[in-house]
Amino acid sequence: MSQSEVTPVRVETEGDIGLICLNNPPVNALGAAVRQGLSDAIDKLNADPQIRVIAIHGEGRALSAGADIREFGKPPVGPRLPDLLDRIEASDKPVIAVVHGTTLGGGLELALSCHARIGLPGARVGLPEVSLGLLPGAGGTQRLPRLIAVEKAIDIISSGRRVPVDEAKDLGIVDRIDDSAPREAALAGAKAALDGSLPTRRTAEIAVDLDPALIEAATERLRKKRPALAAPIKAVEAVAQIAKPFAEGLKAERALFMELMDSPDRQGLIHAFNAERAVKRIPEAQAEPRKVETAGVIGGGTMGVGIATALLQAGIPVTLIEMAPERAEAAEAAVTKNLDGAVKRSKMTAEGRDKALAALNATTDLESLASVDLVIEAVFEEMSVKAEIFGKLDRICKPGAILGTNTSYLDVNAIADMTSRPQDVIGLHFFSPAHVMRLLEVVVADKTAPEVVATAWALAGRMKKVAVRSGVCDGFIGNRILAHYRKAADYMMLDGAGFEQIDRALEDFGFAMGPFAVGDLAGLDIGWATRKRKAPDRPAEERYVTIADRICENGWFGRKTGRGYYLYDDPKTRKPNPDAVAIVEAERKAAGVTPREFSDEDITARYMTAMISEAARVVQEGIAQRPVDVDAVFLFGYGFPRHLGGPLNYADRIGAKALIERIETYAKEDAHYWQVPPLLRELADSGRSFADLNKE
Ligand code: CAA
Repeated sequence: MSQSEVTPVRVETEGDIGLICLNNPPVNALGAAVRQGLSDAIDKLNADPQIRVIAIHGEGRALSAGADIREFGKPPVGPRLPDLLDRIEASDKPVIAVVHGTTLGGGLELALSCHARIGLPGARVGLPEVSLGLLPGAGGTQRLPRLIAVEKAIDIISSGRRVPVDEAKDLGIVDRIDDSAPREAALAGAKAALDGSLPTRRTAEIAVDLDPALIEAATERLRKKRPALAAPIKAVEAVAQIAKPFAEGLKAERALFMELMDSPDRQGLIHAFNAERAVKRIPEAQAEPRKVETAGVIGGGTMGVGIATALLQAGIPVTLIEMAPERAEAAEAAVTKNLDGAVKRSKMTAEGRDKALAALNATTDLESLASVDLVIEAVFEEMSVKAEIFGKLDRICKPGAILGTNTSYLDVNAIADMTSRPQDVIGLHFFSPAHVMRLLEVVVADKTAPEVVATAWALAGRMKKVAVRSGVCDGFIGNRILAHYRKAADYMMLDGAGFEQIDRALEDFGFAMGPFAVGDLAGLDIGWATRKRKAPDRPAEERYVTIADRICENGWFGRKTGRGYYLYDDPKTRKPNPDAVAIVEAERKAAGVTPREFSDEDITARYMTAMISEAARVVQEGIAQRPVDVDAVFLFGYGFPRHLGGPLNYADRIGAKALIERIETYAKEDAHYWQVPPLLRELADSGRSFADLNKE
């Protein structure tokens, strides 16, 4: 056996078998050095007369997670992936691929260019390019529909979903499943190819019959389902090119791929992908997390129940505290309902649900929190209530237990100071429904210990949530920014735009729901309570819109009461509530406003400019560590359109100068609300962007 080190691609020979091993941690991304290494390895083994078969496998987590995302947008270096894969497919000696781990994008395209594929148990394959605003650009749209049924290929390519290895075998993506280690599977596969028991063939040479109706139906479906996204539709257009000879199809695929590569959506989606990872970089990352083996949740309302569900799903036993036995029972029933829903959506197995329920103890006995490692308080948003609870927890909980509060506005420093152990107190702000929404805003108070912060990140990882670090201020990152831009929507409504028009304009822009529909969903009473709480501090110069208060005074809180801005007699439809429309008109009159028209563009421009303005202040004050943290909060907690990459990523598309011009124009109407944030001014003066701040 001979071995030569070609980092990050290793070549090895064993008799007449050539083995190529990808070794580019963490996920064997196909960066320039890997492509060059693979190209050299294929040339070398093809030129070696002793070698009769080649097998490619990967070290570590997976064969390969695909193209190196960090290279996108930079000038190409080294062999291009499509050329390399053509070269592999053209090899006279059969090439076998061993697929293990999560093998995606270019990684799967590499396997498709080989002459047979072996899957390992647990492997998952997919072409997730559409979720990055791209399409498979290295032959994936031409090879997959030749290898498997065209309809199935369209589904995999246009959804970006990950296909488990058993399904991949049934579909014909992998030829066999081998439960040995990647290198052993590669050797076995190579031998099987030599003795003929593993048939080998070039995917490009497989004849294919395209029914154009499949393409039309898929395009139509995607236009309806995801109208804002270009990539899935273009990906289907690329699949349609299989009607052409292979080489021409590849060329067409490349042209469509390059169109998408230059699109702003691609930039936004990759920013969103990176944001999820960037928020892990926190000053406390090196601290040793504390052990969390058991948890307590105080409060069996919607939030408490959702948090308990999320903890149980992460395998953490929960003691849930309610005030009366029947409320504890109701909370347990609500957790059960959530877990049943998770089973229905295939998020967990029936056994997993039973195990989780067995680990739930719903009780009225606060003292039973004496032994838990973590408590999350999720009771009514009232400082006096929190003060009482934290005083009791301080007495009951064991030393070193983490005391978390799910407050969404209140001062976590003040809460911490109600205990004799402020170092153990932290804000853990979940978003409703807490077992579904991915965001966890972690509010780090002045005295919170670094290992308590690190524990929050470890916990978020176990719950598959995206933790974002926030400093202490009213509303933290998300709700503080929301409270500001929400006013822009109210001002437009008072000045003449219908709430229905505002919602529709923002939904067309890409938000899942407009602000008034969201208010109805969340419950209008929540915002009402907050406005009442903040009323004493409201500056005299601030314009105050009373419409929402009038609606609430009628007991109309949105969906839960059957009416709010909209009527919900039929839960599927949303019809404007004529009484709410009448209130809007009456309030305009009372305020002496002559209604004027707003275009949809004006609505989105004002709304987004307001959001960006407050986001810039949150960054400047250090409440958010970097612009990307604000982006992550909005992407994972507020339904911000993913292809725009978050408010401050989107801000860079507009540019600081243009944003300042907008604010100065709007300020002519309301100089108190529309003020240029100093950070925006600094960026405009220095020619920098929010993206530049992320790098600093
Ligand atoms: N390129 C570069 N880096 C990548 C990468 C890629 N394709 N995929 C993952 N990474 C990096 C991550 O950024 C992360 O880096 P840090 O540790 O520095 O933050 C590290 O690898 C580990 O990733 P995760 O934390 O996400 O680890 P995980 O185990 O939870 O998930 C994964 C692994 C399933 C592969 C996930 O990272 C993922 O989905 N990656 C993206 C895969 C993808 O979209 N591939 C297609 C690229 S486009 C293409 O291939 C088509 C083409 O021809 C151009």
